[in-house]
Amino acid sequence: MRDEPDDLVTVTPCEDGPLLLRGPFTLVTQDGRTIDPGRATVALCRCGRSGTKPFCDGSHKLVGFRAASEPDPPA
Ligand code: FES
Repeated sequence: MRDEPDDLVTVTPCEDGPLLLRGPFTLVTQDGRTIDPGRATVALCRCGRSGTKPFCDGSHKLVGFRAASEPDPPA
């Protein structure tokens, strides 16, 4: 894991799981309303099966969601 400055937001696509946001982010709706995540690090669903979107609720494990943490190398 990389060490990042405290003022930098990082987004980590977890293998077979959510997007982890760390740092001084602001989460907003598409209408611009702030969503309070209630914590400094948040997991955003990318499998589409969470019951608490936009947050991950662990459902990706139940549905066998598969996704790499990084893009495939160019062909
Ligand atoms: S990524 Fe975890 S519930 Fe979708």
